[in-house]
Amino acid sequence: MITGVFVGGTSGIGRAMAQAFARHTNGNAHIVIIGRNKIAAAELIASFPKADTNAIHEFIPCDVSLITNVHHTTSELARRLQRIDYLVLSSGILIFAGRNETSEGLDDKMALSYYSRWTFIHDLMPLMQKSERGAKVYSILAAGANSPIEKDNLDLRKNHTFGKMTAALTTYTNVAFQVNLFTYDHILNKITLLEQKFAKEEPNRSFNHAFPGFVRSPMLTPSTWYWKIPYYLVYPIFSFISVTPEVSGDIHFAALLESPPGFHSYNPKGKLMQYKPAEEETVDIVWEHTLELTERLHEH
Ligand SMILES: NC(=O)c1ccc[n+]([C@@H]2O[C@H](COP(=O)([O-])OP(=O)(O)OC[C@H]3O[C@@H](n4cnc5c(N)ncnc54)[C@H](OP(=O)(O)O)[C@@H]3O)[C@@H](O)[C@H]2O)c1
Repeated sequence: MITGVFVGGTSGIGRAMAQAFARHTNGNAHIVIIGRNKIAAAELIASFPKADTNAIHEFIPCDVSLITNVHHTTSELARRLQRIDYLVLSSGILIFAGRNETSEGLDDKMALSYYSRWTFIHDLMPLMQKSERGAKVYSILAAGANSPIEKDNLDLRKNHTFGKMTAALTTYTNVAFQVNLFTYDHILNKITLLEQKFAKEEPNRSFNHAFPGFVRSPMLTPSTWYWKIPYYLVYPIFSFISVTPEVSGDIHFAALLESPPGFHSYNPKGKLMQYKPAEEETVDIVWEHTLELTERLHEH
């Protein structure tokens, strides 16, 4: 049965993409929603089209800001799922706040938007390799141009600023997807990244990074409005330049469905963006950093 996993599927764009997937399959699918909000997940699952008896629509609670929890959840999925065809990653919180460390010593925003997503892809690759149609990964974040990395400050423990963090999240996600680092061959055989060519070595899997633009999701509601400007003053402009989560979800689900093999960046309208690949040295450094950090945070 076609299987879609939605990390951050309880709200906003991820929720709308899960609904689009449920409509697309008429409910005849294994749909896994991952997040913390059990009530929101139950409401979402109740909204899915009624399916045949083999279909499974389920919620797996997980605080994905902790990488140990992510490993735990991926182990559970590995035990229970036959394959994964679609993996949508959209967990996150408003990113304007300064550094806020989790109990694992990572900035919570970086953990949610990059390290946890990387870990989901890495750990779930064996299940994605079982997809006969060619698994597709879609990360809703901040597709765009790469920035220089700080080799001695990759987790931004020092001099953490909003600008540095958004640049790092964009670059790290691009770099990870750029060379299709998540090929199982690479993980198993540790072949050098230099042996891999941009978007050539993956026969059928697709890795996608999207910037959604302004979306009127719960993340950007008055209660979370970061700038202390009265919401009624900004709302007319904001509503003009933003879209609803449902519109954004439909756009990005369509892009996901049509995404060809390899790495692709998408703009808020779901159109392909130009991408200039990062230097191989940057790729190596970010890969080694992420692998070392996420492996260290395996549960014991
Ligand atoms: N909205 C925009 O205008 C906009 C613009 C640019 C980029 N983005 C990016 O797009 C992505 C999706 O944003 P959105 O607007 O859809 O946000 P949203 O409606 O607030 O949804 C965020 C999702 O992240 C999950 N999440 C947050 N913390 C979590 C945690 N500790 N553990 C597990 N799940 C957690 C939430 O689930 P639970 O509450 O169930 O935990 C929720 O499903 C984010 O990465 C965001 O940075 C959004």
